[in-house]
Amino acid sequence: MRPRIAPSILSADFGALRDEVAAVAAAGADWIHVDVMDGHFVPNLTFGPVVVKAIRRATDLPFDVHLMITDPDTYAPQFRDAGADSITIHAEATAHLHRSLQVVRATGARVGVSLNPHTPLDVLDYVLEDVDLVLLMTVNPGFGGQSFIRNVLPKLRELRRRVDERGLNVDIQVDGGVNSATIFEVAAAGADVFVAGSAVFGAPDYGKVITDLRNRAIEGFSKRSAGA
Ligand code: DX5
Ligand code: ZN
Repeated sequence: MRPRIAPSILSADFGALRDEVAAVAAAGADWIHVDVMDGHFVPNLTFGPVVVKAIRRATDLPFDVHLMITDPDTYAPQFRDAGADSITIHAEATAHLHRSLQVVRATGARVGVSLNPHTPLDVLDYVLEDVDLVLLMTVNPGFGGQSFIRNVLPKLRELRRRVDERGLNVDIQVDGGVNSATIFEVAAAGADVFVAGSAVFGAPDYGKVITDLRNRAIEGFSKRSAGA
């Protein structure tokens, strides 16, 4: 499987968002990662469905919408209508995770669930069959440009093991502090999809950095298969 690189537009120039999306698409991005924050679940605010709809026209690439909001059941359908291809909700944000995942499923979007760095994998034990993607946060959500939290690596290895053991077709995504120095280790530990915000949008050449990230991830994949 080819590693998928998902630039997070949180670190893009918000004054030129549609152009920024088009630019990373032209530069070889696989997915566009869209960070939605409500000022409650995380201490920051970004954008709502109207903005997603406006930038949707910039590319045909999948829009990977990461909801860092306290009420995913209410808003997931609106983000789907705005053009989300996958919708990832936080396990910590909902009292009834199974129900919230069904709400996302009913929209027709691919279903993702995300865990903060401190959240154990066990919350997924009885929903892993119900999702298409698990996102392990490697920073505390809310801001771009934070440092990668290495303590998530054993959790990532264990998630890879559980997904493979059950023979599931579930993407494993990492988000936070992913750059050309850290991507090798997360790829080797089991991730398939790599979100990168500041590493991509802070680089002078989007094409070069996306290629570099992908090549380092492929090296990590080789280490993973060698160790298997
Ligand atoms: C953090 C967001 C991330 C963020 C990552 O809450 O979910 O997607 O944009 O930014 P970097 O790659 O700069 O850590
Ligand atoms: Zn994100």
